[in-house]
Amino acid sequence: MCGIIGYQGKNSVVPILLDGLKSLEYRGYDSAGIAVCENNKVKIIKAVGKVANLEKKIDKNISSQIGIAHTRWATHGGVCEENAHPHHQGVISLVHNGIIENYVELKNILLKKKYTFKGQTDSEVLCAFIDMLYKENKDMLKTISLMQKEVKGSYALLILNEEEPDKVYATRCNSPLIVSYTDDGIYFASDVPAIIKYTKKYYLLDNNDIVIAHNSIEFYNKNLDKITKKEEVFDKTVEEAQKGEYKHFMLKEINDEPKVIRELLNYYVKDNKFNDNMPYFKKYNKIFIVGCGSAYYTGEIAKNIFEKYVGIPVYCYLASEYRYQKHFYDKNTLVIFISQSGETADTLEALRKTKENGVDALAIVNVYASSIAREADKVLYIKAGVEIAVATTKAFIAQVCLLTFIALKMAGKEELLKYFANLDKEIEKLINLDYKPVAKHFYKSHSAFFIGRGIDYGLCEEGSLKLKEISYINSSAFPAGELKHGTISLIEENTPVVVITSNPDLKPKTISNAKEVKARGAYLLYITNDKEKDKFYNDVIEIRHIHEIVDSIMMVVPLQMLAYHVALLKKLDIDKPRNLAKSVTVE
Ligand code: G6P
Repeated sequence: MCGIIGYQGKNSVVPILLDGLKSLEYRGYDSAGIAVCENNKVKIIKAVGKVANLEKKIDKNISSQIGIAHTRWATHGGVCEENAHPHHQGVISLVHNGIIENYVELKNILLKKKYTFKGQTDSEVLCAFIDMLYKENKDMLKTISLMQKEVKGSYALLILNEEEPDKVYATRCNSPLIVSYTDDGIYFASDVPAIIKYTKKYYLLDNNDIVIAHNSIEFYNKNLDKITKKEEVFDKTVEEAQKGEYKHFMLKEINDEPKVIRELLNYYVKDNKFNDNMPYFKKYNKIFIVGCGSAYYTGEIAKNIFEKYVGIPVYCYLASEYRYQKHFYDKNTLVIFISQSGETADTLEALRKTKENGVDALAIVNVYASSIAREADKVLYIKAGVEIAVATTKAFIAQVCLLTFIALKMAGKEELLKYFANLDKEIEKLINLDYKPVAKHFYKSHSAFFIGRGIDYGLCEEGSLKLKEISYINSSAFPAGELKHGTISLIEENTPVVVITSNPDLKPKTISNAKEVKARGAYLLYITNDKEKDKFYNDVIEIRHIHEIVDSIMMVVPLQMLAYHVALLKKLDIDKPRNLAKSVTVE
């Protein structure tokens, strides 16, 4: 959820920390702070709100070359400077990403030892706990190893110790952290975009690894044995993680979609046949699809394709519910976990539960070597490149494509791959339509509805989520036939309703439902691959009909563009919507 960055080296640390924080801001943006060592003393500066607020408070003359920084998404305790990171207790300062589950227990121990706390966070408790262990042991490596044994929960931690003011210590457990180096210094970050401007080489930390940065990088395992790590190389360009000419990352990422489709086809398909990168999941007679948010909706869409073409049942689960449900799976069930970040806590825990029960787990992930990718039995990457905007777009399209590929391979229907050939060009055309006129019908509304049947209902769920995420309009998706069982009472004069029909068999009934809401004053935006002669709608967005397996994928584009333009008209912070975070590492 939170973003962390650290540096130890020859250069002035403040610009490096601020720059890193800006590129990690999508991970959390309610407050931010830095801690630097100057003349053997730690100096902490924090501010509520965006990194820009912090920047204003920082004295540009700070000459330090070592420091840690954090951008927060509040979990324990409100949004205020006291709860913002870095925290400081005794000689220890730290930044923390994750949740300490036994912090109340630890706090009681610390209160008895006369520690006092300025805020309400679990992280400040952890800071004091590390200080206590350090005072007892006077050895940072031993302290961190003892901390790992006592602390329950998840953490990525960067630690400064005033008694060793030239070192940064780091460790992690179930929260991502990387470390990297150049001739000028050592960098720590939650994610690659924060350091890519300096280097593409990095090391991925494993749970319980301990790192010391002191002009060189030393790695230790939890038994404090010195270890070596494999160097990774980020395979995308610096531009990939930047907005470039676009006003927002969301718009840039929608515009990346044609390229993402081409990359997916290049990676999994050769001459209209799947290559060896696409496994054949032959033995399974039942599929579960598990995810959160948009990732869950990819499952709802793909379910229709698997059931129709492969002829096996598919059950979709929200990861946060899945963990607590009774499951009727067996050795012939494949559980597919969908996650852009590969770090979503609920999805990760659902994966762990599945593995405990000995059921096969496939991960469909974007971020390379993320926790879900590492822990699943098998991982397939969606190849979407870095996604920064909090509301997912290109990853969503890529997830639906990849799930469709898996279904076509299982169904022995490789001949349908030919319909993907022009998908990139069709998507490009859809991106370039003018969405402003239709967006004007939405942006002043308090509520909006999306209706469709079958696979179109899955699309409605995603379209509706996209709209509410970034435009703050209370939007709901409904199976078209269900409206009249209650929801239709919410339709008033000019209430915007998006009607989706991609399937000719389901279309007539959905149109009847659309007419029912039109008769009650709704504004109808119709998204279809087969325009009606009967002009029952107010506006229409037409998708070129190619084949049902790609038509639905194309329909996602106008839904994303509509949400984008509504939020644009409302002058909202499109890439960093209120209260959200890109990577949700809390349950
Ligand atoms: C957050 C994002 C959503 C995303 C969901 C799942 O809530 O705002 O856009 O769909 O997490 O994320 P994941 O990384 O697991 O796909």
